[in-house]
Amino acid sequence: MTQAAPAPAKTNGTGTVFTPDQLQYVDELKKGRFDLQWLKDPKPNWGIRAQMRNPNRGLTLQDINNAYAGEPEDAPKDRTMAPRGSVYDEDVPDMGYQYNQKYQVWADNVVALYEEACARQWSATRDIPWDELKPLPDDLERAQCQIATLLTEIEMIASDFPAKWLWQMNQHFHEVKMFLCTQAMDEARHLEVFRKRALANGGGLMRCLTGTEVFLKTILHAPTYIQGSFLMHVLGEGLVLDIFRGGEFLAKNKTEKEIYRLCMQDEARHVSYGTMHLKYFLEHHPERDKALAEMHMLAEAAELGIPGFLTNPYIIEPLAVLMGDGVKGIDKGMEAIRLVWVRMREEYLNRCALAGFDRRSVTKVPEQAPF
Ligand SMILES: [Fe+2]
Ligand SMILES: [Fe+2]
Repeated sequence: MTQAAPAPAKTNGTGTVFTPDQLQYVDELKKGRFDLQWLKDPKPNWGIRAQMRNPNRGLTLQDINNAYAGEPEDAPKDRTMAPRGSVYDEDVPDMGYQYNQKYQVWADNVVALYEEACARQWSATRDIPWDELKPLPDDLERAQCQIATLLTEIEMIASDFPAKWLWQMNQHFHEVKMFLCTQAMDEARHLEVFRKRALANGGGLMRCLTGTEVFLKTILHAPTYIQGSFLMHVLGEGLVLDIFRGGEFLAKNKTEKEIYRLCMQDEARHVSYGTMHLKYFLEHHPERDKALAEMHMLAEAAELGIPGFLTNPYIIEPLAVLMGDGVKGIDKGMEAIRLVWVRMREEYLNRCALAGFDRRSVTKVPEQAPF
């Protein structure tokens, strides 16, 4: 939209700044004359009554979208915060959004995921049975704390990364932005719960490694949203989801079981959005073949780095100790880790396949753990 030059501001004699239009309106109000144009404006949604499909759930975004202004446009012409479906001035400012095409941000499950995220928020203070946490043998406490330190370190990348891109997404796609806000909150809570676990049972925070930070930096500074989203939602959070799923084995008490169970619920949403976003991106990209080739190059580079990233004594050994129920059982634990490797690889390839991104025949992730 072309921008009209702003009218020069004036004061009404009290130092308060008004535009000429505002000054005129003040004069009219003083004479008891109201504008009331808002009563005469076109009313595109007058008479719309969104119906609850399920009264037990309440009035959802899907209900609203079903009733009115459901599907966003592929390429909205304006870059405004005025809500989709509203009537707005022609000279609204350009907000400077960089992501103005639906395929750049959308996923077909994002509306449902937002509703689920709101319905399943939990409190790391109140909803974890902290009083069930009892002293553990030193090796198990250290192992839990090393994993809790790693998770405290990495969780907030999935707040920082969406927050970095959020303001650049056109508000026409408000559902995506709202979902990413829930993700940022989820990850804040994950940081909180693992930090609390590390500090609640005598172990404390442990070691952070350069390699982990390098991976986080790659995500944070990815040059485009889709590249960072693939690295984070599809690859990184997918691996974290597999760690959470192993929570039944990792947990030594009800406290830890509940931490992993609740985090797993949240993480599954993030992975699900990222997978379906990749699918939407690839299906709707105007230069699909080029986009596909670029994503394969990115995936190949990332996959080549996975074995080195995961073959890390501060990751696999505490996991093996937890799985083997102590240092004495570390060999048994490593057997379990090798099985987890196969499952992680399989689930990553399945996620890619679900997105229509076939990595199975070309993946660089070794079939078996390299240890
Ligand atoms: Fe998380
Ligand atoms: Fe996440």
